[in-house]
Amino acid sequence: MGKVRFGLVGTGRITDWVLRGAVMDSRFEAVAICSRSEERGRAFADSHGIPKVYTDIERMCDDPQIDAIYIGTPNHTHADIAIRCMRRGKHVLCEKPLASNAREAEKMVKVARENGVILMEAMISTLSPNFRKAAQLVEKAGPVRRYVASFCQYSSKYEALKRGEVASSFDPLCSGGALMDVGTYTIWPMVALFGEPERISPHIMTYDIPGHGLTDLQGSVEFTYPGFNATVFYSKIADSFILTEISGEGGNILLDKVHICRRLTWLPHGAPASGRGKDPQPQDLTCPPEKDEYLCEWSEFIDCVLQGRESAVNTPDRSVAVMRILDAVRRNAGMKIAVTGQ
Ligand SMILES: NC(=O)c1ccc[n+]([C@@H]2O[C@H](COP(=O)([O-])OP(=O)(O)OC[C@H]3O[C@@H](n4cnc5c(N)ncnc54)[C@H](OP(=O)(O)O)[C@@H]3O)[C@@H](O)[C@H]2O)c1
Repeated sequence: MGKVRFGLVGTGRITDWVLRGAVMDSRFEAVAICSRSEERGRAFADSHGIPKVYTDIERMCDDPQIDAIYIGTPNHTHADIAIRCMRRGKHVLCEKPLASNAREAEKMVKVARENGVILMEAMISTLSPNFRKAAQLVEKAGPVRRYVASFCQYSSKYEALKRGEVASSFDPLCSGGALMDVGTYTIWPMVALFGEPERISPHIMTYDIPGHGLTDLQGSVEFTYPGFNATVFYSKIADSFILTEISGEGGNILLDKVHICRRLTWLPHGAPASGRGKDPQPQDLTCPPEKDEYLCEWSEFIDCVLQGRESAVNTPDRSVAVMRILDAVRRNAGMKIAVTGQ
């Protein structure tokens, strides 16, 4: 069985999280970590049993023992790091959102294809087994009349923001904000299932961070598709337990969470109801839990690298389509879209 040898970029919490899933795929091997600080890189390497430490991305890319790079750094750095790695022949698994804006994302996809390497956004929602099963039910539920998705999570970084500390996930200078951080999880499945909408109507709560500019704290966006509507809610300043639902004339698909779906329910449409009708009987179609929730995105990426093909689910073209929507919403809210030179 082939192995894919990885270099990882960034020693933050997310690299630690996703590694726990990665190591469960026996084809995964962590060869190196790249940090801006030798000390942080060494500490991370020691605690995860990673043999090499780099402090320079170019030097890591020149390492012939590395096949692929995982990018776990703030959003505004994704395009630059990914492009440098792909130009040196490395495959790239990049954290969400793929880039700061659609133009950067398009360039990343172009560079990947020109260099014959795989580029995949680490968007877990669409790769989770329960979402994949939900996708298979959409035809049965159709014609679809509504998609509603919600990801609202009170962020510990919001507490810090109130104290005047600006985490990258909120910082517009790092292409942060609620839409880029959590809203994208509600939009990605919609684009994967239905493509790009005809119309976008956002309602965004923005906040001006002194010296950084306008960020967004939460929002709701209404989308128009031929024959149906979609609505997404996202927030970093309040929790919500609204289910995600795809409703159609044939039935309803319920996902407990759109970020990582842990419970999938199917409700077949009964006889047309007129007030005294019986409720449909819910069917629990939840897949057995995986060994680790992040395993699915690593296995998909490793499959793609070993088979020399783009992901059929997290396609680069979908990443660009999602970025176009994220750009449109932010522009509508008067937010500046960071330009990082790519
Ligand atoms: N998939 C998920 O569930 C999930 C969850 C959270 C976040 N994310 C994504 O993961 C990425 C990182 O988010 P985060 O909140 O972890 O970010 P972060 O804490 O601000 O940064 C993560 C790491 O990136 C490196 N870094 C920071 N600033 C950098 C810069 N200007 N240039 C190069 N490297 C830099 C740092 O490592 P060194 O100091 O070692 O260089 C840092 O520890 C984002 O794209 C975010 O959207 C994904």
